[in-house]
Amino acid sequence: MAKILVTGGTGYIGSHTVVELQKKGYDVVIVDNLSNSNIEVLSGIEKITGIRPAFENIDCLDYVSLDKMFEKHSGIEAIIHFAASKAVGESVEKPLLYYRNNLGSLINLLELMPVHKVPNIVFSSSCTVYGQPDVLPVDENAPIKPALSPYGNTKQICEEIIRDTIYANPEMKAVVLRYFNPIGAHPSAEIGELPNGVPNNLLPFVTQTAIGIRSELKVFGDDYNTPDGSCIRDYINVVDLAKAHVLAVQRMLDAKNDKNIEIFNLGTGRGLSVLEIIRTFEAANHVKVPYRIVGRREGDIEQVWANPEHANKVLGWKATESVEDTLRSAWAWELKLKERRENNK
Ligand code: UFG
Repeated sequence: MAKILVTGGTGYIGSHTVVELQKKGYDVVIVDNLSNSNIEVLSGIEKITGIRPAFENIDCLDYVSLDKMFEKHSGIEAIIHFAASKAVGESVEKPLLYYRNNLGSLINLLELMPVHKVPNIVFSSSCTVYGQPDVLPVDENAPIKPALSPYGNTKQICEEIIRDTIYANPEMKAVVLRYFNPIGAHPSAEIGELPNGVPNNLLPFVTQTAIGIRSELKVFGDDYNTPDGSCIRDYINVVDLAKAHVLAVQRMLDAKNDKNIEIFNLGTGRGLSVLEIIRTFEAANHVKVPYRIVGRREGDIEQVWANPEHANKVLGWKATESVEDTLRSAWAWELKLKERRENNK
């Protein structure tokens, strides 16, 4: 089976994707500098699949080490590039760190691909490129709006870098995946999201509040122009999301792609408000999430959800997990983390 390089493979979406690749028989090599993840994730992956993936502790900014890695693991047929800095707020404070990390890593990989005859790359992009869309649900032809953060801008620029590189190198192929809001964990509770410090994202904050690590969840605004006044997002199960990467890789390896660069929205097609998420989480897990409405968070988009038809039809991918099961998996993972903390005492 083909050998696939997964950068950022010990991260949240990366680790779930490694599991799905291994389940389909792919040979996986992970490159990660563990800057926002933990080496223990490899054991979680191994518990699920029975296979410990090859792992190289390399920063994708390190061209020389990446070059050597491609020599050592010769025959890589595709790259799935997750490794990137992803905290929106931090990117506002440290823009150059974000531009250096996210652009530099991608450029290194794109430069090394022809050198090592790796023709295919899958890139992690985000629905953030649409800003507040004029039409909902948003499809891939919607205009790209000015980015609201340096992080968002890196995703836009990276998409452009890929487009220009593919244009100049007809032997290369790319699939750009625009994620909506990934949530949940593997149903085994062996891997999940490991937020660093105080979570920025809604779901880890919900689960940490429910378990008592945080005293209350702050709901950022209930005066938006939405049915209940809170913001609306398209929350997508992380395992569903991971499976789309496997299909994207298969599509390029089987030469089924229509164009050398293809773009897909990955979402459920359904928008849920912050308050709906809280209520559904409480009902699915029989736990309370103390919360308080506070002011709006700067830079938040009012409402966005995907039109996933292109991915449904062309990639043959569809989100299948219910939001209730997804929220149960998030809670099971939080309980597992608590158990691990107690065992380490
Ligand atoms: N929210 C709260 N309280 C919190 C955290 C979040 O009310 O403590 C709300 C936000 O205001 C927003 C929703 O929950 O309405 C979702 O917020 P997240 O931070 O989880 O997700 P965002 O949609 O803001 O951001 C996500 C990714 C970014 C990406 C962006 C757009 O985290 O990386 O989608 O693609 F840029």
